[in-house]
Amino acid sequence: MDYQSVYKHSMKDPEAFWAEAASLIDWDKPWDKVLDDANKPFYRWFSGAMMNTCYNAVDRHVIAGRGDQAAIIHDSPVTGSKRVITYAELQQQVAKMAGALQAQGVTKGDRVIIYMPMVAEALIAMLGCARIGAIHSVVFGGFSSHELATRIDDAKPKMIVAASCGIEPNRVVHYKPLLDEAIELSTHKPEHCLVLQRPEEPGTLVEGRDLGWAEALAAAEPADCVSVAATDPLYILYTSGTTGQPKGVVRDNGGHAVALAWSMGNIYDVQPGEVFWAASDVGWVVGHSYIVYAPLLRGCTTVVYEGKPVGTPDAGAFWRVIEEHKVKVLFTAPTAFRAIKGADPKAEHLGRYDTSSLSALFLAGERCDPDTLHWAEDILKRPVIDHWWQTETGWAIAANCIGIEQLPVKAGSPTCAVPGYDIQVLDDEGEPVKPGNIGRIMVKLPLPPGCLSTLWGNDTRYVQSYLSAEPGYYLTGDAGYLDEDGYVFVMSRIDDIINVAGHRLSTGAMEGVLASHPDVAECAVIGAADELKGELPLGLVVLKSGVERDHDTIKKELVKLVREQIGPVAAFKTVAVVERLPKTRSGKILRGTMKAIADGTTYKQPATIDDPSILDEITSSLSAIGYGRHD
Ligand code: COA
Ligand code: AMP
Repeated sequence: MDYQSVYKHSMKDPEAFWAEAASLIDWDKPWDKVLDDANKPFYRWFSGAMMNTCYNAVDRHVIAGRGDQAAIIHDSPVTGSKRVITYAELQQQVAKMAGALQAQGVTKGDRVIIYMPMVAEALIAMLGCARIGAIHSVVFGGFSSHELATRIDDAKPKMIVAASCGIEPNRVVHYKPLLDEAIELSTHKPEHCLVLQRPEEPGTLVEGRDLGWAEALAAAEPADCVSVAATDPLYILYTSGTTGQPKGVVRDNGGHAVALAWSMGNIYDVQPGEVFWAASDVGWVVGHSYIVYAPLLRGCTTVVYEGKPVGTPDAGAFWRVIEEHKVKVLFTAPTAFRAIKGADPKAEHLGRYDTSSLSALFLAGERCDPDTLHWAEDILKRPVIDHWWQTETGWAIAANCIGIEQLPVKAGSPTCAVPGYDIQVLDDEGEPVKPGNIGRIMVKLPLPPGCLSTLWGNDTRYVQSYLSAEPGYYLTGDAGYLDEDGYVFVMSRIDDIINVAGHRLSTGAMEGVLASHPDVAECAVIGAADELKGELPLGLVVLKSGVERDHDTIKKELVKLVREQIGPVAAFKTVAVVERLPKTRSGKILRGTMKAIADGTTYKQPATIDDPSILDEITSSLSAIGYGRHD
């Protein structure tokens, strides 16, 4: 098969295309409609069908004879441990987990927040929820208790499953105290918390509310899979929106299972029994889709790596994991490769390991700069595939689908639309732009299976945020262009989202935190270019008149405030105190211009600027702290 004919088939007859792909999944009851468009712009895939995601990811593989195959390999350099869980063991543990949830009254449709680091139990907890039709919502460990509380109040979980601690190379992450604080802060209170006690820092259990993981699972009756509608929610995953209020992306069961199972063979060229490693975190969408669901739905072995690309213990960590576990495909963010390149520019560590099992490297999460792409290609001598996607879509929108046909790589492009996605670039009037011209990247509705069905409890925000810019289109929030060959180039965001080490963050949310400081009159946060992390947030604040406190003290307070309110993952470390912020005559802060000044790139003075002299002030303030052009 060639890419063009598969793609055309998906566009011409999406229902036939996805019905065929649906044979990768076991259904309890077939669908009435492959694509249900009765309630546009809400589309539903496989409506009327019944199935269970956990059954498809675990039980059926045991029935099919994969019981002794490794399902999960937990490799944890930060705790010095390794553990293999076979499909048969996974089935037992997940059934116990589901039983432990049921014992606390959790049933289909109830929400369960999971707040855990990269341990196998995080996957067991997710699958345990899926088994009984409970809706999980995993919260990334790098967020603060305040962010966790926001998610608790939005998802209103009946129960929270947490670990006592996580291990970062430089510190212990105090999950349990952070959880207790979040529950203090939240209005909604979960009935129970199930806590995995890790020996590195066991947590104190709150009597009557908290249960120990080991005891609860030992006492639980194994629970069977509960059949759910294909259109029922499997999970909610919160992601940064353009305001401080995160968006709860809702993923269904049926379409998600079909899309992910299809993607394993067709995008990644990975078959049942092979080893797939997504070096991300279960708290991100890459972790949900490619650490947990896709590899397991396809009967592969997934690697859960609790470590970093560098420093655990060195820049050879990735090569060691590939050798030891015979990884066929590695998926990570370009920033991880920039970190390895920075620590080991000649890739000397690579020579110490046998990485012959590796067939390809996939990169996503941020724009892949050509330097990183070429360096990875040079050292690995394997295809290096950039692919573009978002929390909302749950799987790649554009990729080089090497399982179908490997297309030539163009540096800077994640290649072409994945079958199922009708990518179009539109101008501000909603007209398609010519090849090579930048515009808003949109996907013509319907989105393929696996993409978000709505935002949790907020259909209106879903329609407003994604479907209202141009009727009949999904707004990706990214700007870029298509070239003559249909290659997509994703250049920037059209909103306030920045990408820090492959982590998606909202500058608007950070501005909200800075503005809450009593000395701050006005502020702006921009994403300044950074060699390692792609972008780093940079705050500019104007102090209230009459504030005479030491600026360094205020700056430290602001850095601490963002860390407390959003979390260490925001990597917010730099603030400049300025006299004024540049604005348009209508009062809009010129963040784009300040970013150009910080990055030292050429910019055109906006015609609508109120007072151009402010730009010189900003240039000198930023230059004083090492930003901007240095010539
Ligand atoms: N739990 C708690 N804290 C976390 C965390 C987690 N799971 N992950 C990161 N953090 C913390 C870090 O410890 C750091 O805290 P610090 O300010 O106390 O040092 C902070 O958040 C910023 O982390 P990060 O931006 O990741 O920087 P880093 O210096 O720790 O590591 C890289 C840099 C490039 C090695 C790292 O970002 C990386 O491996 N990135 C891969 C990207 C990725 O997986 N993206 C997911 C999408 S594919
Ligand atoms: P997230 O929802 O955290 O996965 O972040 C999604 C956003 O990250 C996208 O909308 C893009 O802005 C950016 N992104 C992800 N992958 C790529 C890529 N391959 N190239 C360019 N940008 C990317």
